[in-house]
Amino acid sequence: MTNQDAMRLAIELAKKGTGYVSPNPLVGAVILKDGCILSTGYHQNYGNIHAEKAAINNCSDADLIGSDIVVNLEPCSHTGKQPPCSDLLIEKKIKSVVIGMSDPNPLVSGNGIMKLRQAGIDVTTSMLEEECKWLNRFFSKHISSGMPYVIAKAAISLNGCIAYEDGNSKWISSEESRSTVHQLRHETDAVMIGKHTALIDNPELTVRLITGRNPYRIVFDNNLELPLNLKLFNDDNKAKTIIICSEQSASKDKYKILTDSGVQTLIRKTSDKLEDTFRELYSRFSIGSILVEGGSILHNALLANNMIDEIQLFVAPKIIANGLASFMGNFTSKKAINENAFKVIANKMSGPDIHLILVRS
Ligand SMILES: NC(=O)c1ccc[n+]([C@@H]2O[C@H](COP(=O)([O-])OP(=O)(O)OC[C@H]3O[C@@H](n4cnc5c(N)ncnc54)[C@H](OP(=O)(O)O)[C@@H]3O)[C@@H](O)[C@H]2O)c1
Repeated sequence: MTNQDAMRLAIELAKKGTGYVSPNPLVGAVILKDGCILSTGYHQNYGNIHAEKAAINNCSDADLIGSDIVVNLEPCSHTGKQPPCSDLLIEKKIKSVVIGMSDPNPLVSGNGIMKLRQAGIDVTTSMLEEECKWLNRFFSKHISSGMPYVIAKAAISLNGCIAYEDGNSKWISSEESRSTVHQLRHETDAVMIGKHTALIDNPELTVRLITGRNPYRIVFDNNLELPLNLKLFNDDNKAKTIIICSEQSASKDKYKILTDSGVQTLIRKTSDKLEDTFRELYSRFSIGSILVEGGSILHNALLANNMIDEIQLFVAPKIIANGLASFMGNFTSKKAINENAFKVIANKMSGPDIHLILVRS
């Protein structure tokens, strides 16, 4: 097996931790001896052992001296919830380490590689780097900025509408597209919607069409106007519902009813910018990635603040008469006007729909 094949395998292994390791990165490791796989491992759960150690544990009887390890992220050099992996590789007398990308964590960044090289280990970097960076794009964003990675998702008609005239938006995209959205919910730490979407759609925002874990559900409702009988406030997942509201609303009876029932809240001061709120979602709830499912007003607020990192767009082959426009773009700041440009990085069919993935250009 070549190192590149082993890196592909490491990436696939790393993906198995999706939904369970955040805010840690997704990491897989493959140990080779004379080009043959000796062992594999991946980071399975937050706080649990790292991929390198998992791979070493999975071949506890084997002689690792002179073996090679292929890992999609630079081995850590600091003690967090687990001891440093670079020390372990040195101790096991591994001959060479092939790395996909350096660790964007300022506590590691380059130190792991330096430690390995200083110990005489042959280190190759940037193997399938683009794929590795894409895999850990959420981690890279939050660990280097303190801000969650933001994906705006929308299902739109050919004429750019996200809802029918009556506000209904349930059947714009196909079953295949809805399954992909459930996969995205599984991959991200939280799903976010605006008050109107919560009111009109009464969504569950859970993962049902695939097997996966449920993310946090965040709703903007400044004045706590949403009715208490919404699914988000009553199902088994209500402890994973976070309502973002104003300071003034915190004195309302409804605030106490909601918090007493287990729903979580985040209070915004009048002076808080949208960015402050997202920073708090990261620092308080460890939310490192958010799938913003709309509606239009919320998407627009994020665009106006240059806060969208990625767009997942499902274009359905239909025209909606008198519908609600998506991504209105009616912002005035020069920065928002000049910098809201995206490039398509993937396009594919999703049943009858076209699924586009865009990132900032
Ligand atoms: N096709 C799709 O993919 C899709 C997805 C989602 C929704 N939809 C449709 O979209 C429609 C609703 O969209 P919409 O644009 O009318 O409303 P929306 O974005 O769902 O909600 C807007 C409201 O949320 C609160 N809010 C949003 N952003 C905020 C921010 N940054 N700061 C503070 N509060 C914020 C505000 O109410 P307060 O000030 O009172 O808090 C605001 O009026 C529905 O018909 C729904 O079915 C379609």
